[in-house]
Amino acid sequence: MTVTDTTVNQRLIEVTDILRRKLFEFAEEAEITEQEYIEGLLWLNRVGAADEAILLADVLHLSAKVVDLNNQESEATQSTVLGPFYFPERHHDVGNPGRICPESQPGDPFVLSGTVTAIDGAPLAGVQLDFWQSDSDGFYDNQLGDETNLRGRMFTDVDGRYEVHSVKPMDYPVPTDGPTGEFIRATGHNPMRPAHFHVFAMADGYKPKITHIFPDTSQYLDNDAVNGVKDSLVYRFETGDDGVSRTTFDLVLAPV
Ligand code: BEZ
Ligand code: FE
Repeated sequence: MTVTDTTVNQRLIEVTDILRRKLFEFAEEAEITEQEYIEGLLWLNRVGAADEAILLADVLHLSAKVVDLNNQESEATQSTVLGPFYFPERHHDVGNPGRICPESQPGDPFVLSGTVTAIDGAPLAGVQLDFWQSDSDGFYDNQLGDETNLRGRMFTDVDGRYEVHSVKPMDYPVPTDGPTGEFIRATGHNPMRPAHFHVFAMADGYKPKITHIFPDTSQYLDNDAVNGVKDSLVYRFETGDDGVSRTTFDLVLAPV
């Protein structure tokens, strides 16, 4: 071992210095009492024990801020939050075109299709697309049990095209049965998210794209619990004579 060998993480030191400075500023400006301090720490313990760290960061709008800071390529599709309900192990190849729920799934039939391209317009074949959404009662499959539903994976075809069949997403509340819910109620924060469909695109040589598509009919577009709405991600879902809603959502990926 030489003197230059070290396990010290310089980035962690840098980030911690900034965080400590900001936390001191926060304690000073908010004039935090000792009672508030200990109550807050005990509550944070419960947030961790309930696996709600991501949910809390989302509800504080911190996740949306970090997404914006890290995804500023103006020509690419805009990004938004991942949320706590992405479980890659639950995503199985459904084919392309493919369905991510049974034909009998309650809700309005919905087809999302489009093309994935690079910034120069070149279609990208073989892009992995993971989709997930809530059911028409506002629940994700993991909130209901072990069965995978309303999520799936497909790969773009040689022309960069994809087509996924599902049901129309609905507005839903973020989970409010844990410590983050206590915070939401105590601060009067809106718990609702506007309806959306999650898309996660991955391709070698391109930045992963985590985004949503929002139908333009939701009443919560201006008041998303996690502040994840971007105008460019709001789309009209046209319902055809066959009762099926269809939307075209083209994705543009930025190079790494
Ligand atoms: C979601 O869209 O799945 C989600 C995002 C943030 C908090 C809760 C849920
Ligand atoms: Fe969601």
